[in-house]
Amino acid sequence: MPATIGLFYGSTEGRGAIEAELIKDLIEKSGLATVDLHDVAYTDLMEMEQYQYLILGVSTWNIGHLQDDWAFKFDDLDDVDLTGKKVALYGMGDQYGYPDSYVDAIEILAMKALDCGAEPVGLWVVDDSYEFEYSRAVIDGVFMGLALDEDNQGELTQGRTEAWVANVLEEFGLAIPVPA
Ligand SMILES: Cc1cc2nc3c(=O)[nH]c(=O)nc-3n(C[C@H](O)[C@H](O)[C@H](O)COP(=O)(O)O)c2cc1C
Repeated sequence: MPATIGLFYGSTEGRGAIEAELIKDLIEKSGLATVDLHDVAYTDLMEMEQYQYLILGVSTWNIGHLQDDWAFKFDDLDDVDLTGKKVALYGMGDQYGYPDSYVDAIEILAMKALDCGAEPVGLWVVDDSYEFEYSRAVIDGVFMGLALDEDNQGELTQGRTEAWVANVLEEFGLAIPVPA
């Protein structure tokens, strides 16, 4: 019986929703887990508690702020207990249009998940492919989740996501690490 991962996303123009489908496809093709998709706009966030493994998707809007559906329900997270649960995040952003607040919402949601007791996984190194000035989601050269940019670097999304999904499955303890 494979594990079940809950993927909760908020997406205004659909880019993060398409990414949620891609992540689900990649994970389910691995045969290691199934993924339940939840659009935060239509979901009671208490449903997060039923999953041992969580992926949260959030885009950044209004210069450094949470995507609207997450923003409307953000305070509901105060009542959600994620103690002992592993949580990975991904974020959609536009590093050319908003170079000083690129994927900032990853950090806002990651800090909240920590407050809820979650154990963060799925960190992602800032490599040379990125072109932004500042992101609050970066600590010591590492994003607090997978940073994507469908607005400018759509051709990199598939490869970034494949590599990140492999890392996350390993950190969830659902996959055996491949020797380097
Ligand atoms: C008014 C406006 C403000 C935005 N602010 C930011 C921002 O501060 N940082 C960022 O990385 N992207 C920002 N974006 C870009 C969106 O995050 C990006 O288009 C993303 O792909 C949207 O994903 P979604 O369709 O899943 O909501 C902004 C876009 C608009 C139109």
